[in-house]
Amino acid sequence: MKFSLKLIACLLFVMGANMTRADEGMWIPSLLKKYKIEDLKKAGFKLTAEDVYNVNQACLKDAVVGLGSESRPFRHFCTGEIVSGKGLLITNHHCGYRAIQSHSSIEHDYLKDGFWAMNQAEELPNEGITASFLIRIDDVTSEMMKGIVPDMDKKKISEILKKNKAEIIKKAQKGTHYKANVKAFFSGNQYFLSVYEIYKDVRLVGAPPSAIGKFGGDTDNWMWPRHTGDFSMFRIYADKNNMPASYSKDNVPLKPKRFFEISLDGVNENDFTMVFGYPGTTTEYLTSYAIEQKMNSNNPHKIKIRTKRLNIMGAGMDSSQKIRIQYSAKYAGVANAWKKWQGEIKGLKRIKALEKKEKLEQRFREWAKTRKEYDGILDELKGLYASNRDLSLAIDYIWEAGLRGCEILNFSKSFMVLAKAKEEEIPQIVKGLKAKTSKFFKDFDLEVDKNLFEATILMYSDNLEGKYQPQAILDLVSKNKNKFGKYTDKLYEKSIFTSEEKVNSFLNSYKKSSAKKVLNDPIYKIYDAFYKFYRKDLGLKSLQTEMRIDELQKKYMAGLMEMDSDKIFYPDANSTFRFHYGKVKGFKARNAVYYDYYTSLDGIIEKDNPEIFDYDVPQKLKELYASKDYGRYANEKGEMPVCFAATNHTTGGNSGSPILNAEGQLIGVNFDRAWEGVMSDLMYDPSICRNVCLDIRYVLFVVDKFAGAGYLLDEMKLVSKKK
Ligand code: ARG
Ligand code: GLU
Repeated sequence: MKFSLKLIACLLFVMGANMTRADEGMWIPSLLKKYKIEDLKKAGFKLTAEDVYNVNQACLKDAVVGLGSESRPFRHFCTGEIVSGKGLLITNHHCGYRAIQSHSSIEHDYLKDGFWAMNQAEELPNEGITASFLIRIDDVTSEMMKGIVPDMDKKKISEILKKNKAEIIKKAQKGTHYKANVKAFFSGNQYFLSVYEIYKDVRLVGAPPSAIGKFGGDTDNWMWPRHTGDFSMFRIYADKNNMPASYSKDNVPLKPKRFFEISLDGVNENDFTMVFGYPGTTTEYLTSYAIEQKMNSNNPHKIKIRTKRLNIMGAGMDSSQKIRIQYSAKYAGVANAWKKWQGEIKGLKRIKALEKKEKLEQRFREWAKTRKEYDGILDELKGLYASNRDLSLAIDYIWEAGLRGCEILNFSKSFMVLAKAKEEEIPQIVKGLKAKTSKFFKDFDLEVDKNLFEATILMYSDNLEGKYQPQAILDLVSKNKNKFGKYTDKLYEKSIFTSEEKVNSFLNSYKKSSAKKVLNDPIYKIYDAFYKFYRKDLGLKSLQTEMRIDELQKKYMAGLMEMDSDKIFYPDANSTFRFHYGKVKGFKARNAVYYDYYTSLDGIIEKDNPEIFDYDVPQKLKELYASKDYGRYANEKGEMPVCFAATNHTTGGNSGSPILNAEGQLIGVNFDRAWEGVMSDLMYDPSICRNVCLDIRYVLFVVDKFAGAGYLLDEMKLVSKKK
């Protein structure tokens, strides 16, 4: 067959414009039918759009929950999936970590030994954790825009948006117990309403020991190949009418609308996979200027500060088992972003992200030349990033090294409420603060915190120009520079916030006139100096620029969508429900290194080393390995599969997300991404971006054979075409 050159060029153009790179994207479920179902079917999906998302009938989305907290129910920190008709849910071990830790002590160390409730009465309540089911998600852009006319001033627009939002939410909640929320999509070019049913009694059912649930620890975090059994189980409770209710011993297990069937058939390379969940934040449409600043300025500094903090916490943890328990969750939290940022910088360089962005920007500039509303926005953005560069770094420093470098500064802030309280409010506040105090000191070590304070304040002072530092800090450091350790000792000794006894004795004798004790406390004063400086001198100054950047980013986004109007864009993650699809796949990690798509128990045994905390394999697991007692959970080769890698475009918040096969059955639990591809938050590349999934068969194996909690499997529906 012969094609004319012109035709070929034309075909290529249409294909090129239409293509989002394979597997890239986090899609809105209510738009599945309109935009994506054909693509999904081509990729191997066997169900219909209505099977996934249907507001009139139970469907797959009804088996997914967003995990949040009572104070921030819409900010889902993780995802979970329902696997039984009695509200049993699976999420990650690291998602349940704080809950597991909070029930732990030296005597009952559930982090170390694992925990399994042997009946429902033994399940442990967790104050504050919420589980949200999505009822529906609707485009409300036109309702949000009602009353907004061209050239209206910004203040007026934001007032109208606020009013419209409140009305939309009120209407959505009316006559129901639902909670609704409206969020901006595509940098504010569109708005969607999410309506949720939020359950508030979520109990811990089980967790493997950390030697399984956190196997590989921070050494293997963000890495492939992986061998972490990163899961824990919870159960949602409801009142007698199956309605959301706060914890009560009279509550009963939830009867969910839908739960996932679990497939025992496992995965092969190139199998279709689908993920549901609550991805938190991505920024795929930023300009090269924004990315360059992150890569070369902000993130290298943030990494440096955290390296220091981690070394200090790590030394404490190595010195005592008590400190290890106290700081393990905090350490993991600080280490997580620290390691990701490093992979992100490498990944962006490797895929030549800046060049790619610049090319797109070049095309945009050309296109915008004849369009007045878009012409010049890239130049202005470039200028704004340049002028805000130092200020933006100073803000990062104040958070990473100042306000949050150690813990005691932030703790002292909690007592501010006392200073403002009316006489009659005091007893209630004192009660709350006492509870907070006991929680805080349970996981606090004075020496570790002093070391953190000393190191981070000095870093702060060394790395910023004087004009970006509060006077009080400049003075304090210059006065004490050569004896900072001594100064720190004295500071912690003088402050009323540095021991549980001191705080409690202060609270026990609190009178209205004691307020000045908070305000004059030397630690509170340091907090206050940082915070005021941040608000007045840094935050306010940069706010103007940031607002203008947001405005231009919104325009740029609209322009991109107009320029490539035949491409289907996906919105950045914003903690709303999304689906992702891709395939099971290995990848080439670096020169001459190709990674297989799955790992097995053999790999855990290979890593075994009792000398290394992260690789100390439990005896029982070794015995199961030796006897090959894998039951029906082994693969065809007789191995016990542990994890697999796939091309789904996920991010933080997708932890715990269900991984489904083409029939919508559960085959895995999402828990991470491979380090080489973590730049997918800024730019996805199908050749190297991988999400890391726990094979559901390993979950079942651990529950059944390792923990002896096989009774939990009786609630689940296990299916197989083979066995
Ligand atoms: N990287 C994963 C995520 O972002 C797991 C984090 C928890 N695990 C850890 N070793 N710190 O959530
Ligand atoms: N571990 C992450 C989480 O907590 C998921 C990994 C990612 O960022 O993709 O959500």
